[in-house]
Parts: sequence; structure tokens; C-alpha cells
Amino acid sequence: MLVTRQKVLRRFWYPVMPETTLAADRPLPFRLLGRDIVLWRSRDGAPAALADRCPHRGAKLSAGFLDAAVPGGPALACAYHGWAFGPDGRCVKVPQAHDPLRGMKGGTRAHHAAARHGWIWVCLEDPLHPIPEIPEAADPRFRRIDEFHEPWAVAGLRIMENSFDTAHFSYVHAATFGIPEDPRPAPSTIEHTAWGFVMRSEAPVSNRGISKDLLKTEAERTVRIIEGRWFLPFFRASRIDYPGGLTHILCTGATPIDDAHSMICQWVYRSDTEADAPSEKVIAFDRAVTTEDRTVLETTTFDVPLAMGAERHMPADKPGIEMRRRLAALLAEHGEAEARLPKEA
Ligand code: FES
Ligand SMILES: [Fe+2]
Repeated sequence: MLVTRQKVLRRFWYPVMPETTLAADRPLPFRLLGRDIVLWRSRDGAPAALADRCPHRGAKLSAGFLDAAVPGGPALACAYHGWAFGPDGRCVKVPQAHDPLRGMKGGTRAHHAAARHGWIWVCLEDPLHPIPEIPEAADPRFRRIDEFHEPWAVAGLRIMENSFDTAHFSYVHAATFGIPEDPRPAPSTIEHTAWGFVMRSEAPVSNRGISKDLLKTEAERTVRIIEGRWFLPFFRASRIDYPGGLTHILCTGATPIDDAHSMICQWVYRSDTEADAPSEKVIAFDRAVTTEDRTVLETTTFDVPLAMGAERHMPADKPGIEMRRRLAALLAEHGEAEARLPKEA
């Protein structure tokens, strides 16, 4: 599936950057599903997203500045001749005109933008679903730690299926939490929802190194009680409960930059405190794990086929198979065929 060619994918919310990254006085570029957009903060700091192209002479608006001298401003001004645009994309100022604030008909394209869970989210067209609900985000017993915001050369679907794949632990994560001598994955169940599915499993894992500090146990083995929530198309919030009482919720957006690249947006919620487990240690452990995943995932093909016969599967691949089914159904429902690269001769 080539994500930039599937129009319906423009109707989902994607996290693009932590809220703290987007300052009040500086626009930032982002590429989403192959489209160049510009993020900025309009009135009262509300995030706004526009096509990153000035309709006058095609300059990038992300190279522009915020113009406060506009009613209801600030507006996003182009660096070339200072035309300014509101959060709806309308041109609200042409400084060279007799009446600069009359603006001009036409403007640049506006997209949906919102701040939620400490991140900026964008939806290019009218959203089919709300931004994913994460109950723990509103629960004061949990703290949030922002972990990663970095581009990987991997398709979003590969990252999503990997996040629900307990069969790779013994290989990819042999040095962190996998059990190399027992590659058989734990059984799992899947419950479909309107927005994706919930996978449940109890996966035995090893407990070594920094993990012993974080889990506050010297035991060599523990178990992860997993409630993995997958949100169409490329977001997951996986809750992991440990027998000792710790809860760790991994939130990962594999936001599609283009067909072959995803922006990894990852944060966690934890039931312990900074005194129990400093954020740097939590991030260091998850960094080690995600680096293991990244190393192998960046070797995979990005044009992930949705058709069942195109790749070989094993029973433990059920979550990835269900993702393919749901995505294929979504495309069919919206009258789209799966776009793929032409077969090599
Ligand atoms: S190119 Fe943007 S104002 Fe001229
Ligand atoms: Fe992994």
C-alpha cells in the first residue's frame, strides 16, 4: 500500500510534534502523506496547519513570520512580500495594497489542527474519527513522559504490526526483554472496535539491566499483561501492567511522512513517580528497545501488501493480518483500490 496514494488516509488525525516544539512566534514545516504543510500558532496559541505554499509566487510559508498587526491575529505572513493568511487559509493582508487589510480572494489550503495529549495533531481532510482517546491521559495517577520524535525509513503499517507482534521478542529484543531460548509467543485475543482493535495477551519477558531498576525487582523473569489498542491507521496505545503493580502505557504514532518514511511520535504514561523511576531511565530503556526495532524495520519493504497471499504468515501474525483486513475494508468502503508499486519485470 502506497500511503500517499490512498486518499482516505488523509481523513485521520496524526500526531506531528510535541506541543512544546511549536513556539508561539515561529512557524514550522512538516511533511504529511507527501504534502508539505506549515504548523503555527494563531489566536490564543491555537495550532493551525496550512499548505506550505504561498499562492502569490509559491514561496514556502514555513519560512515566513507571524504578523500580529491583523485583526483577530496573529496571521501567518509570507517572507517574500508579506501577504498574511489566517488559520482558515484566507489571505487577510496584502501590505502593498491601498487597503492592506482587505486581503484578497483565495488563499492557501487549510487543514485541521489540534492540541491533545501534549502533542500537535493534524488531519488533512475531514476526519472520520476523533483523535484517539487515551483514558490514562486524563487520570491524575499517571504522569506523561515524551520520548521520541524522529523520522524512520519505515512504513507506518510495518511499525504498527511490529508493535503488536509478540513473536519477534526472542530475536529482535534478545538483549533487552526477550527470552532467546523460548521463541513461542504467548496466545492473544483480538476485539474489534469502531476505531481499530484491542489485543490482549500475557507475555513472559526477561527482566535484566535497567529493567530491574525500573520494575523494582531482581527477578530474572516477569510477565507483561498487555492491552494493546490499535487505532486506524497508524497509532497505538499499548497498556502494559506488571505483576508488581506498575502500569506503563506506550503511545506511538507512526505518522506517515511519505510512502517510505514515518515520523515516530512516542510518549508514555506511567503509574510510578519521578522519584521511583527518573524519566531519563524510562526513556533509556525504551530507546534501547526502539533502536532494536528500528534496525530491523528499516530493512523491510515499505510497499506493504494488504492482500493475504502476497506475504507468508504464521498464526502469531494475527494482529498484522487484522490490520491488513481493516485497511483493505476501509479502502473498499471509500471506493479506493490498493495502490502499489508496479511489479518488477
Ligand atoms: S510569494 Fe508570498 S507574498 Fe509573494
Ligand atoms: Fe519490538
